[in-house]
Amino acid sequence: MSPVISLSRVTKVYPGNVTALRGVDLTVERGESLAVVGPSGSGKSTLLQIVGTLDRPTSGTVTIAGHDVGTLSDRGMSALRARSIGFVFQRFHLAPGLSALENVAEGLLYGGAPRGERRNRAAEALERVGLAHRLGHRPDQLSGGERQRVAIARAVVGNPPILLADEPTGNLDSVAGEVVVEILTRLNEQGTTLVVITHDPEVAARFGRRAAVRDGRLIGADPAPGEPPPAGPPPVTAPVTPPVAPPVSAEEGGAR
Ligand SMILES: Nc1ncnc2c1ncn2[C@@H]1O[C@H](COP(=O)(O)OP(=O)(O)O)[C@@H](O)[C@H]1O
Ligand SMILES: [Mg+2]
Repeated sequence: MSPVISLSRVTKVYPGNVTALRGVDLTVERGESLAVVGPSGSGKSTLLQIVGTLDRPTSGTVTIAGHDVGTLSDRGMSALRARSIGFVFQRFHLAPGLSALENVAEGLLYGGAPRGERRNRAAEALERVGLAHRLGHRPDQLSGGERQRVAIARAVVGNPPILLADEPTGNLDSVAGEVVVEILTRLNEQGTTLVVITHDPEVAARFGRRAAVRDGRLIGADPAPGEPPPAGPPPVTAPVTPPVAPPVSAEEGGAR
C-alpha cells in the first residue's frame, strides 16, 4: 500500500496567533475513504485545505501523491492540485451564470483540452451523477442536492485520484444527502481516495475509517509510519500523582 496523503507534525498558525492545527500526523492509503469529524472551530477545514494544497502548513511535512508540497513552488502546487485533487464544498461554489454543463466543463480548464472535448466529458460526468437531464440548467434552476451533484461532477471530471469534501451534506436534507453519500461511496469503490468532513455521525459511519479533530489535534487516526501514537489523556484508573515530587533516588540522580 502506498500512502497518497501523508502529513507529519503539521501545525497551522493563522495571522492573529490562532493555532488551528497542532502536530497533526495523518496517513491515507490509496483507495481509502476517511471521514473527519469534530466540533465547529476544531480545525477540520484547515486540515482539508492543507491536504488539498490550497494552503501551506506553518510547520511540518505534507506529501500528496508522492510530492513533498514544501519543495513545490506555488505554480507547482497549483499543477499538483489540478492533476490530483477534486474539491466539494458545503455551499457548492458553482458559478451562478453558467449551466450545469459549463460549470462541470470548468473543471477541465487547467488541462487545456479543447472546448468540445471539455463539454463531452462534462456531459459524461453529469450522467454519472444522474443529471443527464439537467445539462442546460443553471444553479438557480436546480435543487440543493442537484447542485451538489453538479459540484461533484465538476470535482471528478478530470479523474483526480483524490477527492476532498468539506461538509458535502451540510446544506442538504437527509434524502438529498443520502444521494450525495451514495455517489461519494461509489467513487471510492471505483478507486478514488476520499476524505470527507462531516458533522453527521450517520454519514461518518458510511466511510471506511474515521478520525476526530479536537482543538487542532487529530484523534483516532493511525499514526504516520515510524511515528509514535499521539499521547492521549491518562487512563481514568491511573493513580493520582502526588502533589509533591518524591525525592530523587541515588540511581536516578544526576540523569539531567
Ligand atoms: N483564515 C483564517 N484566519 C484566521 N483564523 C482562521 C482562519 N481560518 C480559520 N481560522 C480559525 O482557525 C480555527 C479552525 O478553523 P476551521 O479549520 O475552519 O475549523 P472547522 O472547520 O473545524 O470549523 C478556528 O478558530 C477559526 O476561527
Ligand atoms: Mg469547517
